[in-house]
Amino acid sequence: PEGIRKAMPLLDQALTAPIKGYAWLPDLRRRTHGRPVPIRLLGLPAVALGGPAAAQFFYEKGNFERHGAIPGPVLDTLFGRGAVHTLDGQAHEARKALFVALLMQDGVDILAKMVGEAFDEAADGWRGGPPVSLFDATAEVIATTVARWVGVPENESDRIAQARDMIAMVDGSVALGPRHARARLARRRQERRLAELIEAVRREEPLPSALSAIAHHTADGCLLDARTAAVELLNIIRPATAVTWFVAFAAHALERWPGNRARLTDDDFALAFVHELRRFYPFVPFLAARAARDLHIQRVDIRRGALTLLDVYGQHHDARVWPEPYEFRPERFLRRQIGEFELIPQGGGDPRTGHRCPGENITVALLGELVQRLGRLEYYLPAQDLSIDLGRVPARVRSGPLIVVG
Ligand code: HEM
Repeated sequence: PEGIRKAMPLLDQALTAPIKGYAWLPDLRRRTHGRPVPIRLLGLPAVALGGPAAAQFFYEKGNFERHGAIPGPVLDTLFGRGAVHTLDGQAHEARKALFVALLMQDGVDILAKMVGEAFDEAADGWRGGPPVSLFDATAEVIATTVARWVGVPENESDRIAQARDMIAMVDGSVALGPRHARARLARRRQERRLAELIEAVRREEPLPSALSAIAHHTADGCLLDARTAAVELLNIIRPATAVTWFVAFAAHALERWPGNRARLTDDDFALAFVHELRRFYPFVPFLAARAARDLHIQRVDIRRGALTLLDVYGQHHDARVWPEPYEFRPERFLRRQIGEFELIPQGGGDPRTGHRCPGENITVALLGELVQRLGRLEYYLPAQDLSIDLGRVPARVRSGPLIVVG
């Protein structure tokens, strides 16, 4: 591993080496009472910032760029080379419009319903059986249903392998060693398979599916190369499968704060519970971009090109923004408008123009369906290790959790 690490470009090391966990940036920022902190990453100047005003600054048009901000190991696992995440300006606008058309229009509720029904069907099979890993089972339900929703033909024998690959790409993206190797392998396998499918779909008439839309999408009159099209198709199936993380966290929250369970039948409360899950639990630690020009914020200079990290986890646990941030209290989201830059588990600002996640409506809809079902499901958690290690990125409930369904 030492040899491999030395061969990585400096940026790759700069960003992956210090990812020691979710406390890294919040600890640094606490020393300056939340103000931006100039840091050095392997000798390179960088800045860490957080808080709604800083998030707004991070997303202000013209302030930051994404090319060159995401380390190679993360591209080769999580996002894919040439992904929308890495584009700027006009190229980003054109590609983003494709995602907005596919993910932010009708069809979101249909997908949520499909996932809910698939979960019920799977849960029927768990009744009276041995303990089930809620994480693994949910990943399979979501990956299979989303693949069907985007138009990828189903291959029964591939269902589990496909779900495992989607999870592996997320789980190993910033790890070293075998977890990272699994993530690379998963991406290579899925990109190859979906690029072939894209080529096949191009020989057919366009259909109303995301697969077909991506296959036939053109920018400046050109189709995407098949590999990039596969990357973007995966940028729907993979993050949707990643919603699994929050389903596992939901079971954790219901175990620790069982008083919430009965209230999940109320749609408003279920939505507040989903928002609190996305605020409270650790998933995305921070976001990275490069200053597009010389910038200045709260008495700190950011030189053009400098790497800038928006501390997502820290912002969600800052008492100035969220009173008693370490209390899990869905009520904080009842009867409250959420500012564009306050709750940022999927980025901030306007998803149509900036880099904010276009899958946020889908995430919230899927979680709404699934947490309500979890609330109704009769199950118990056998003795197990429910700890969540904040030194592991992305964090997970260590045991799954395992549930026994009655
Ligand atoms: C971008 C988080 C679910 C598709 C992002 C970003 C974050 C994020 C942090 C980057 C924002 C930025 O760079 O400024 C999440 C989390 C999810 C989730 C935590 C739930 C577990 C989804 C889903 C989809 C999706 C369900 C699609 C169905 C995308 C795409 C982008 C993106 C295509 C790139 C947008 C761009 O660069 O313009 N997401 N996401 N995500 N997400 Fe999600």
